Amino acid sequence: MLSFNRRQFLAAASATAVTSITTPSAFASANDELRVVVIGLNGIGRTHLNGFPEISGVRVVGACDVDSAVLGKRAEEFQKKFNSKLKTYGDMRQVFDDPNVDAVVLAVPNHWHGLGTVWGCQAGKDVYTEKPCSHNIWEAGQMEKAAKKYDRIVQIGIQRRSFTHLKDFFQEIQQGVLGKVKQVKGLYLTRRNSISRPSAPPKPLATVNHDQWCGPAPTKLERANYHYDWHWFWDYGNAELGNNGPHILDLCRWSIGAEEFPTAVSSVGGRYAWDDNGQTPNTHLLRYEYAQAPITFEIRDLPTATGKKDTCDYMGISYGIVVEGEDATYVGFDTGKVIDSQGKTIREIKGTTGPDGGRQLHRENFVKAVRSRKTSDLNCNVRTGHLSTALCHLGNISHQTGDAISLKSLRERTQEQPLVHEAAVRMQSHLAANGVDVSSAHVQLGKTVQIDPKTEMFPQDEKANMLLKREYRAPYIVPEVV
Ligand SMILES: NC(=O)c1ccc[n+]([C@@H]2O[C@H](COP(=O)([O-])OP(=O)(O)OC[C@H]3O[C@@H](n4cnc5c(N)ncnc54)[C@H](O)[C@@H]3O)[C@@H](O)[C@H]2O)c1
Repeated sequence: MLSFNRRQFLAAASATAVTSITTPSAFASANDELRVVVIGLNGIGRTHLNGFPEISGVRVVGACDVDSAVLGKRAEEFQKKFNSKLKTYGDMRQVFDDPNVDAVVLAVPNHWHGLGTVWGCQAGKDVYTEKPCSHNIWEAGQMEKAAKKYDRIVQIGIQRRSFTHLKDFFQEIQQGVLGKVKQVKGLYLTRRNSISRPSAPPKPLATVNHDQWCGPAPTKLERANYHYDWHWFWDYGNAELGNNGPHILDLCRWSIGAEEFPTAVSSVGGRYAWDDNGQTPNTHLLRYEYAQAPITFEIRDLPTATGKKDTCDYMGISYGIVVEGEDATYVGFDTGKVIDSQGKTIREIKGTTGPDGGRQLHRENFVKAVRSRKTSDLNCNVRTGHLSTALCHLGNISHQTGDAISLKSLRERTQEQPLVHEAAVRMQSHLAANGVDVSSAHVQLGKTVQIDPKTEMFPQDEKANMLLKREYRAPYIVPEVV
């Protein structure tokens, strides 16, 4: 089915006049200047444009975006700040075919992460791919194969992996500093707004090449705000779970050393209080079964109550993790504290987080691995990024293969799962405070999906297995053979 590979595509693509895969970059020496191009510039790409030039021996030589307005603006800002003119590209394939580029940063929407990374590796570039690692579970495997086959350095942008204080402390947790871990809870309790329901189908921005923006995904446009709001459509994004979930779930599984898929996942969630076109849940509870300890994750995009501008919290935090041990509990995010059973702080967990929320440390780590040519030097290689991102995909698969039930029956339906039940009861009250009529509303009770961690598939569950991979829109197809 997927036989149209990059070489064939390039041979057919007259628009960009590229006809062959470039030879791998000659970059290898610790003393060579590393020439970087940032691809995707509207949001986080901007911080990469500003961060990479601060690293010794690194030169940002170019910028690429399919929105010419964003591209022009960022190039102008860069020239002002660094007094250096960037080469600009409107198509990432031109970047991959440029022999004067050693490494690329993929700060493009999620549905481009898999194909962009595979193409980058095939072209001999090292790649820093933003989180989530991939848009679906299957393509992460293709990214891993491509990195290996073309001997490329690929870092996934889950930047807290570069915090040594967390690495050290999580090792202590695994050695028993909190006693036996009973459960890990992840929290992402934020506040967002409705994305509206436009009365007429929105038109792509005049400055955007919409076909290329959509790439592997369908081209139907349903959002009024072109950039960023794609997160809330399954074709491009992966819900809040796949947006901020990779950061939080990574901390959850890292803290207990869970180095494979869980054996099962279950979920409860829905989209509430907003009348808009968004498809993904804004309220989501997840539970993952691991031998080390169960992980639960709570997501809320609604404030504490209608009209409020605040966010919910749990044990004093809105974002982060709570690792509950038999002897003590850790509560933290970038930094944290250990508390005793009375809630008294008995230890602070602190360390260097560096500029840009840890991203600068993570960029430096990428550059170090590019110079050493050792994937083992990376703090977040494709495998690590994949295992954390897969938790998001697994939760979304549970959600998508579940059934709608009445919200008022949720307490009863979750009785058998104490950790989910406790969170579901709080979720119901939270929704009521946000004006949801609990007596008439529905909630999606996700299927409890069984997983074989060895094959990373769902035994005898055809419906769930179908969601391991997407349908790719030709010619933007992640190849079966990379
Ligand atoms: N590590 C982090 O902390 C962090 C933070 C924010 C975002 N992210 C990730 O970064 C990615 C981008 O997020 P964002 O908030 O900047 O999104 P955004 O929608 O604001 O910006 C994406 C940019 O990519 C461009 N683009 C889309 N397709 C392209 C293509 N084929 N070639 C070149 N440019 C293309 C768009 O035109 C846009 O300018 C997402 O995957 C997101 O999850 C990571």
